Amino acid sequence: MATQPTSNRGTWNSKLGFILAAAGSAVGLGNIWKFPFEVADGGGASFVFIYLICCFALCFPVLVTEIAIGRKTQKNAVGAFTALGYKNWRFIGLLGILSGVLILSFYNVVAGWAFGYFIELLQGHFDIGGRFGAFIADWSTITLYSLIFMFLTALIISSGVSSGIERASKILMPSLLFMILGLAAYSLTLDHAMKGVEFYLIPDFSEVSLETVYNALGQAFFSLSLGMGALITYGSYLSKKDNIITSAALITLTDVGIAIIAGLLMFPLVAYLNNGDFTNVQGGPGLIFTVLPGVFESLSSPLGIIIGAGFFLLLSFAALTSTVSLLEVPVSYVIDEFHMGRKKAVIIMSTIIYLIGIPSLLSNGSSEYFSSFVTYIGSASPVSFMDVVEHLSSDTFLPFGGMMIVIFAAYIWKKENLSQELAIGNPKFIGSLNEKFIHFGIQYLSPIILGIIFLLTVANRFFGYNPFE
Ligand code: TRP
Repeated sequence: MATQPTSNRGTWNSKLGFILAAAGSAVGLGNIWKFPFEVADGGGASFVFIYLICCFALCFPVLVTEIAIGRKTQKNAVGAFTALGYKNWRFIGLLGILSGVLILSFYNVVAGWAFGYFIELLQGHFDIGGRFGAFIADWSTITLYSLIFMFLTALIISSGVSSGIERASKILMPSLLFMILGLAAYSLTLDHAMKGVEFYLIPDFSEVSLETVYNALGQAFFSLSLGMGALITYGSYLSKKDNIITSAALITLTDVGIAIIAGLLMFPLVAYLNNGDFTNVQGGPGLIFTVLPGVFESLSSPLGIIIGAGFFLLLSFAALTSTVSLLEVPVSYVIDEFHMGRKKAVIIMSTIIYLIGIPSLLSNGSSEYFSSFVTYIGSASPVSFMDVVEHLSSDTFLPFGGMMIVIFAAYIWKKENLSQELAIGNPKFIGSLNEKFIHFGIQYLSPIILGIIFLLTVANRFFGYNPFE
């Protein structure tokens, strides 16, 4: 097979560029918005410990496999299966494209909230925390912010792989790292900061249950952008000389590191506001939007604006490198398979996805119909349209897609072929312990655990069966 990429597809300029782009895909709202509270609710450091095992033992083989399939074929998530000679497996890629489209449709709305908060705090509107419910229910404001966000995403992608995605990641990722470290260092100096760190990290093994493990795995999988071919796509722009295993390790470490630091930034702020007393703190991801503005207000004026706007800019940057990767998956598919120009593909896909996201945008109070969209079997209260899309795509399709990708690699394409690809840029790979670990992961560990997760999610989400009761 020709190793030369088709000239109009684009390639990364450097290994670092690829790592930053893939880490940018991984680091997103999941890390900063959701992870800290999963930790606090799931038993602190004991959750972090389980999370690390999930990332490195269960997700890492999937991550490596996706990148390898992409680099081997130099094709998009669907075309990759055809290029390997397994046309019947294209459905996994198609399901991945569908997942990406659905995830981006609501993810972009939440990214719009974050971006809107940045603009509000820049103007010193600290009362926005108390108006969160009204803010997200105000469809015209959210339409504006989410349109801007989709536009920025489309703009980056339309400039291509190296001069668009790679260049943006090279600016956004270091800025993100700089901001998160600066903000965390600052918040650790506030009064009662250590109380916050204690609340965040003190291990509590009595909180660890099967459900914790389930949550940790779901979070790890989403956070590493697995299961829909995002990394097949990014891997397809990778040069034939780079070491995939070390790249994947760096991507995982960055993702986990930033998630953990996000908590070290957040909880000292909450502790500061509540004088170190966490008894009345309402958990959950909404806390970022409802409580943090009050913290920023209590810092003196210019500082509050700098720290507050800085925090939401950080959140927006994290979200932007993720929306870029979500949009690139369908765009790359359309470019390869329908021979469409990049700009046209970007305009068409971003418009379609934005339109699909409108009911989600209206799901948070502006439309009664979409806000209480359906009531699942066995459940008492209705869920919104946005929730349904999330449950279907990120909770259901992703673990299924991930399971099918590793099954494909292990049993259809064959693990020896995977090894051969992984040995490029890593000559000692064949016969190494690493190889045995990856093989064990894709043959047994990951498909079995991901299969269980998929079945439990379907039973739980859509049929009201609660395995954790
Ligand atoms: N990983 C991102 C986050 O943590 C979200 C994301 C971007 C994603 N691209 C993806 C999730 C592809 C699944 C698949 O916010």
